Amino acid sequence: MRASPQPTGKPLLDAALGHKQKTPPVWIMRQAGRYLPEYREVRAKAGSFLDLCYTPTLACEVTLQPLRRFDLDAAILFSDILVIPDALGQPVRFAQGEGPVLEPLDAKSVASLSPEKALDHLTPVLETLERIKAALAQEKTLIGFCGAPWTVATYMLGGKGSSDQAAARLFALNEPVAFAALIDILVEVSARYLVAQLRAGADMVQIFESWALNLDETAFRNYVIEPNRRLVARVRELVPDAPITGFPRGAAGMLAEYAEKTGVNVLGLDYATPLAFASQTLPQTLTVQGNLDPLRLVAGGAQMESRAREIVAAFADRPHIFNLGHGIVPQTPIAHVSDLLKVIKG
Ligand code: CP3
Repeated sequence: MRASPQPTGKPLLDAALGHKQKTPPVWIMRQAGRYLPEYREVRAKAGSFLDLCYTPTLACEVTLQPLRRFDLDAAILFSDILVIPDALGQPVRFAQGEGPVLEPLDAKSVASLSPEKALDHLTPVLETLERIKAALAQEKTLIGFCGAPWTVATYMLGGKGSSDQAAARLFALNEPVAFAALIDILVEVSARYLVAQLRAGADMVQIFESWALNLDETAFRNYVIEPNRRLVARVRELVPDAPITGFPRGAAGMLAEYAEKTGVNVLGLDYATPLAFASQTLPQTLTVQGNLDPLRLVAGGAQMESRAREIVAAFADRPHIFNLGHGIVPQTPIAHVSDLLKVIKG
């Protein structure tokens, strides 16, 4: 178990470092986004979605928008997990109403990715962090992030989102050498990217393993745990004690093993994770983050408030960061977000 550094005065970072807070600090996954009219306004004038990610003034502005409306304890860098393939020379485009679109990689094209130049392409994202840091109140935590190697690989190999990740799962089985080479590239580039984010002002970083679903235990260990473990270790070689959150969505019965083997400080829980199971199987010193169903926030009212209270009560014995169990959705009424924060913060 890692020794907890001294408290920093930032409640969310302190919870991440293992210091239990009186009321759980809160942020909301995908808190900058289409449910906010002020986001839609900036998004419309930015041009493409990636133009927004690569324009520091605008990306900084949309990062800060949710903190002006709500009493949130953290800002999360506005960017996307798919800037990594884009930076590696596999262009990404976000088609209206379709989500991300890429030209899928094959075994040969893995070798033509350009990891040496990737970080140069991401300089605007680092400038965004510097701007956010300069504008953010002292007690707020600034979160950087990247996608985990497997999750990013599912988009690079499938060319788009899919419900079963079949293209990537088959590629891993049929082309193990090219798959291993791709994961190696993603581990190294993602580690250097997270280190650059920490140096540019991020207080902590989150690794989004959004597609930790649909894997048998052997595949889970090989594609999820081992690359996440290497990524965490590589970041900490360069920034010792870097505070890191892992969010292996769908990990279910593999959650405790994921947390133990990767060494993350914070374990993000999806909303399907039963509260009693989490509190019984996860070590009490591990900080947990989560895990309200985003659709409960859409529906709002008494069901949302009572479930939020159950989540807070279930993790009252350990450091806890309140969050949704996946990203906020565009149809969420803004008033429900304020209602939720009132329940958590009293
Ligand atoms: O406020 C924040 O949380 C910061 C910004 C952020 C975005 N994407 C902005 C975004 C973060 C942290 C992400 C992470 C991300 N991106 C993940 C992991 C989290 C998760 O939800 O599981 C994944 C899988 C992606 C890939 C991605 N980006 C998809 C599948 C899509 C299309 C679906 C959608 O929600 O539209 C995106 C686009 C995207 N990324 C949008 C935003 C605000 C919407 C695009 C728009 O505004 O036009």
